Amino acid sequence: MDHAATRETALARIAAAQDLGALEALRVEFLGKQGSISGLMKTLGAMSPDERQAKAPQIQALRESVSDALTAAKDALEGAALEAQLARETIDLSLPAPDAPRGTIHPVSQVMDELAEIFADMGFAVATGPEIEDDWHNFTALNMPDNHPARAMHDTFYFPNEMASGGRKMLLRTHTSPVQIRAMIAGGAPIRIIAPGRVYRSDSDATHTPMFHQVEGLVIDKGITLGHLKWTLETFLKAYFEREDIVLRLRPSYFPFTEPSVEVDVGFALVNGKRVLGGSGDAPDHGWMELLGSGMVNRKVIAAGGLDPDEWQGFAFGVGVDRLAMLKYGMDDLRAFFDGDVRWLAHYGFSPLDVPTLSAGVGARA
Ligand code: PHE
Repeated sequence: MDHAATRETALARIAAAQDLGALEALRVEFLGKQGSISGLMKTLGAMSPDERQAKAPQIQALRESVSDALTAAKDALEGAALEAQLARETIDLSLPAPDAPRGTIHPVSQVMDELAEIFADMGFAVATGPEIEDDWHNFTALNMPDNHPARAMHDTFYFPNEMASGGRKMLLRTHTSPVQIRAMIAGGAPIRIIAPGRVYRSDSDATHTPMFHQVEGLVIDKGITLGHLKWTLETFLKAYFEREDIVLRLRPSYFPFTEPSVEVDVGFALVNGKRVLGGSGDAPDHGWMELLGSGMVNRKVIAAGGLDPDEWQGFAFGVGVDRLAMLKYGMDDLRAFFDGDVRWLAHYGFSPLDVPTLSAGVGARA
């Protein structure tokens, strides 16, 4: 058979191949080690130089056109396979998305994010401390020595005495105030932090759960006064409740770790039997509601934190995060916060996309 005829037959068979498998079989038949065209190439060796010079280009050309045809056919088959796959895997974007279960952000997490955003704008960093604390950080360093009656103000969960460490009894922290001490010891002054987290007290009813959340605030610097505390709380609460008409009332109070100590009330209006924050509590149909504890950091506490109280002053405050959430978002039973009921979470939870920012408003949209 002359080369032209061989070529015609080969190309016709390649064109007729239905799939990649058939094509591969043809490649082996023509160009494989034992292939017919490879066989032709081998005959070149036995030829005289003249004959080789005449035949070689023809055999090369034959080999090349078969090889090119195989490549082209392979590309075409693969292209067709891809087209078929794309057609098969088409997604109809006009169909409703499957109703996949969606998680929500728990109101406590949402409020903590809002607080971090508000205080970050005032230059506060977020600090944390352990929930399993020792009684030195939780009480002693906060001016509540062993026999101090204030230790009984908290119904504390103590660990068994055998678990004491370095002479310190271990407990579940009853407030976030030990983070004040840890922040001073770890970083020195000046300090501007908030410390959100879980705290524990042996207490349970509609407004008390054995575990709840607080956020502590601490500022230590030079020349800090009660005025700085009042401004900070006012700015924070206006931003948090997204109302300019938030009015605070500062009342003398007592905490061992602050001196003077100040209980902060916020004015509310009674609207259809519901408390709506805003306005002076002294106005008609208004009242005052206790919101948080605060004060100037006690000199003894500053000293326990390793700082010189003649050089450094500061203020601190502590507020219930769950309570802040209830007031802003209208839940009335604290226990539901921690039941893990997905229906409650779907109702009161927030979209993960609703990241609080000062520019867009720290409050989540409905
Ligand atoms: N630790 C106090 C409490 O849990 C709150 C508080 C914090 C008061 C800081 C004053 C200063 O009730």
